[in-house]
Amino acid sequence: MNSESSASRRMHVLQQQVDPSHTHEQVLSTNFTSSTQSGQVNLSLRLLQVDDYHKGFLQILGQLAVVGEVSFDQFKKRLEEQKKVVPQTYFTVVIEDVSKGKIIATSTLIVEMKFTHGCSRVGHIEDVVVDETYRGYKLGKRVIDECKRIATEQGCYKTILDCSEKNVPFYESCGFKKKEVQMRYDNH
Ligand SMILES: CC(C)(COP(=O)(O)OP(=O)(O)OC[C@H]1O[C@@H](n2cnc3c(N)ncnc32)[C@H](O)[C@@H]1OP(=O)(O)O)[C@@H](O)C(=O)NCCC(=O)NCCS
Repeated sequence: MNSESSASRRMHVLQQQVDPSHTHEQVLSTNFTSSTQSGQVNLSLRLLQVDDYHKGFLQILGQLAVVGEVSFDQFKKRLEEQKKVVPQTYFTVVIEDVSKGKIIATSTLIVEMKFTHGCSRVGHIEDVVVDETYRGYKLGKRVIDECKRIATEQGCYKTILDCSEKNVPFYESCGFKKKEVQMRYDNH
């Protein structure tokens, strides 16, 4: 297929898949059960909500990176900015252990609007973490699968991420393959 027809095919897929009537919150919400260290538990897979601040969302991110002091007001403002400034761009997927009211897994999809490849879209996955007491129960795979699904629904033609060498097998089992290298510039 030449590049022109491939670009127009992508545009067609994009037009078919992007439903502008879909609000941010309607994108997903699923309840399911999973075995964990504490036996079978009820879990809820959905997008991040403002009261997740009180359900340990920042604490679980703290198992991945330095979070620092983030007040409830700062958290709320950032979530509103993500939703309002560029709608349909930030999709933070969480899994809540409903019995404990605790966020136990998260992953964020960011949809980049490009000029290249016929004004295509590319998905970027960031901040993937499962609470250490829930690892090994396919919950990491579950949040990644949800990000992949939303990326497809949003018309992304590919989804990419950066990871450490030790997490390569995890992402390979989620269907990703190694490509190119990451470059970094430290602004501060
Ligand atoms: C990486 C992480 C998200 C994986 O979550 P998880 O829920 O334990 O992983 P899953 O149970 O969904 O694993 C899915 C698959 O990946 C494999 N896998 C997971 N971690 C792995 C590892 N470290 N090495 C090899 N394979 C691994 C599992 O065996 C499973 O394979 P299968 O589908 O063939 O059975 C979790 O370990 C974590 O939060 N780590 C700390 C934070 C981090 O490093 N995040 C990634 C930043 S890029």
